Order: sequence, then structure tokens, then C-alpha cells
Amino acid sequence: MRLLVCGGAGFIGSNFVRVRVRDHGDDVVVLDKLTYAGRRENLEDVEHEFVHGAIEDPRAVTEAIRGADAVVNFAAETHVDRSIAEPDAFVRTHALGTYVLLESARAARVRLLQVSTDEVYGSIAEGSFTERSPLQPSSPYSATKAGADLLVSSYCETFGLETLICRGSNNYGPYQYPEKLIPLMILNALHGDPLPVYGDGLNVRNWLYVEDFARGIGHVLEHGAPGEVYNVGGPDESTNIEVVRRIIELTGADESLIEYVTDRPGHDRRYSLGSEKVRALGWEPEVRFAEGIERTVDWYRERRDWWEPIRSGEYRAFYERQYGRALS
Ligand code: NAD
Ligand code: DAU
Repeated sequence: MRLLVCGGAGFIGSNFVRVRVRDHGDDVVVLDKLTYAGRRENLEDVEHEFVHGAIEDPRAVTEAIRGADAVVNFAAETHVDRSIAEPDAFVRTHALGTYVLLESARAARVRLLQVSTDEVYGSIAEGSFTERSPLQPSSPYSATKAGADLLVSSYCETFGLETLICRGSNNYGPYQYPEKLIPLMILNALHGDPLPVYGDGLNVRNWLYVEDFARGIGHVLEHGAPGEVYNVGGPDESTNIEVVRRIIELTGADESLIEYVTDRPGHDRRYSLGSEKVRALGWEPEVRFAEGIERTVDWYRERRDWWEPIRSGEYRAFYERQYGRALS
């Protein structure tokens, strides 16, 4: 299969491209704007074609989509804290970008899979969200992702475009930009920097190893029914403070590095996804959190070459703005 993978130079996109080329022999064209989160080096070990461009640019998309059998869209702004500080790019990429991509897929008559998130459902105190749960997003990030999902579904209803939506829970694993909880805590622990825990640290996330999500997306692309939404949730839930304590054990850092800081505005308390629908299609997560977190800590220990340029670049300024202190 020849795939156009938008946002394929980011964390999940690059893992997806690796899985598809390695395990399925797909031909892949990556279209990516290369924002701070998009990195060519994430794909240096994988054969692919690369087009540097934005999904909101009709010319770039028209060039990249030529000859594709399907489009998988990972392209997004993905950090909730950045969406609170500066929402503009979130609106542009998720609303305008998704629209341009849908128009191109419609003209080319190819199936489009939109990669989405459990955050569109908002927070849930007990039980798990199903695909029928109402959309109640809390942040500019999740609200614009929810808007994109609705637009995608409308193209199936109105124009008969073959669309699919995969809503994933919190991913972790290799190549994740260290603004997100797990890589941020691993790198800070390795450097002896404080570990900033928001609020009381008891918010719960449903952790999904990135290769499991990548396989799930490929599975839905091949076997999903057009017009349908599939939740893809991880096998384990954990509070943030439990995650941070496990990272402290695995890195040998000192507990005294934990620092409780001001909570994120509108912070969702708990995410939990029911994945029965995608399981019925034949997908299962393979990596439990206990194993995945060890693999992830090992990867960051070994791949200094990957994170050192990040930790000494734009990230330092972002970190100072966000946490009001400098990194060591
Ligand atoms: P990421 O921030 O690591 O990567 C995003 C990629 O999109 C980058 O390569 C970036 O350069 C590219 N991009 C951004 N704006 C673009 C634009 N306008 N045009 C083209 N490319 C653009 O993100 P990620 O964590 O890999 O997330 C990928 C997708 O998965 C997103 O849609 C996100 O909402 C969704 N998702 C993420 C998680 C998670 O835990 N990280 C969970 C569920 C769903
Ligand atoms: O649920 C899927 C979503 O997971 C994706 O759609 C998003 O793109 C992705 O960023 C992620 O969102 P979260 O807000 O859950 O992830 P983040 O890593 O930012 O935070 C995880 C939890 O950790 C959350 O409760 C906030 C907390 N946290 C985060 C950071 C960065 C802290 O306590 N301290 C921190 O420094």
C-alpha cells in the first residue's frame, strides 16, 4: 500500500511509519511542516519520501497525495500547555489543515484516517468512555481536535469520503518530545533537575505504548468500516505521581527532586478509554506499562544523541516560560 502520512516526522507518526515500512512493506510519503516537534532524524533509519509542507497548504498536499492509496493524518499541535499559552496554531492546523486535507482526499478519492485523542471526551470520574460518549473537550487543544473529528465525519456523511477516526489514550515510548510528562521526567531525573508535578499529582492517565497505537491505527486503516470511530486505549491506568515515582526508581534519582507546582488550568482529572470496538476488529495492546516504561527509560538513556540538541535548543526557552525556572 502507498500511504501519505501527514505529521510523520513527529513522535507517533514516525513510530507508525517505522512499523508500516518494517512489518507491512508499505511505500510511505511523509508530509510534515517540521514544527519544533517534527524532526527529520526521527525517520533517519526508515525508507520514505519526504515533502516539507503544511497540511493547510493545498499545493503541498496536492503534490504529496499523488498516487497514494490512503492518507493517515497525525499532523497536529499536541501539547495542552502550549494550547493554553498560544492557541493560534492549534486552530489553524486542526481546523484549516484538516479541511484542506479532506478536500484533497475527496478530489483524489482516497480513504483518510484521522488520528485523534481521548481528550475530546473530557474527563471521566468512573468507568470508561465509549465511541458514543459525548464530546466535552476542556482545552483549546482538545476542542480543536474535537472540531476536526466532526469535520472528518461530515465528509463521510455529506460527500461519501471513506473516513476513519482513531482516538488514542496517552502514548509514551521512543522519540517523544520532552515537553510531555514521561520524557520530561526521565530527562530531568537523569540531570538532577526538579520534577514538576501539577496539582496533587493524582490525575489519572491511561497509558498506551506507542508501537501498540501504531499497530492499532494500521489495523483500523485496513479493517475499519468507513465513517466509524475507534477508541484505542492502553492496558493500564496510573496516577501521575505513581509514574514519576517509577521513573525515579528506574533512573536512580532522588525522591527529593519531586516538586508540586501550580496546577494546569482546566486540568482533566482522569482519562479512560473502552476499546472493545477495536478489539473486536482483532487488535490488542501487547506492552503493559511495567515493561514499556523500562524500555522507554532505557531508550532515553541510550539516545543522548537524539535529545541533547532538543534540550539545548528552543526547548530551554519553552521550559523557562512554562516552569519559571531554567534547566541545568
Ligand atoms: P507530535 O507533536 O510529536 O508531532 C506532530 C507532528 O505534526 C510533527 O512532526 C509536526 O511537525 C507535524 N505538524 C504540526 N503541524 C503541522 C501542519 N500544520 N502541517 C504538517 N505537519 C504538521 O505529536 P504526537 O504526539 O506524535 O501526536 C500525533 C497525533 O496523535 C496528533 O494528532 C495527536 O492529537 C494524536 N494523539 C497523541 C497522543 C499522545 O499521547 N501523544 C495520544 C492520542 C492521540
Ligand atoms: O490523552 C491523550 C493526550 O495525551 C494527547 O492527545 C496529547 O497530545 C498528549 O499531550 C497527552 O496529553 P496530556 O495532557 O495528558 O499529557 P501531558 O504529558 O502533557 O501530561 C500528562 C499528565 O501529567 C497530565 O495530568 C499533566 C501532568 N503533568 C504534565 C507535565 C508536562 C505534570 O504533572 N507535570 C508536567 O510537567
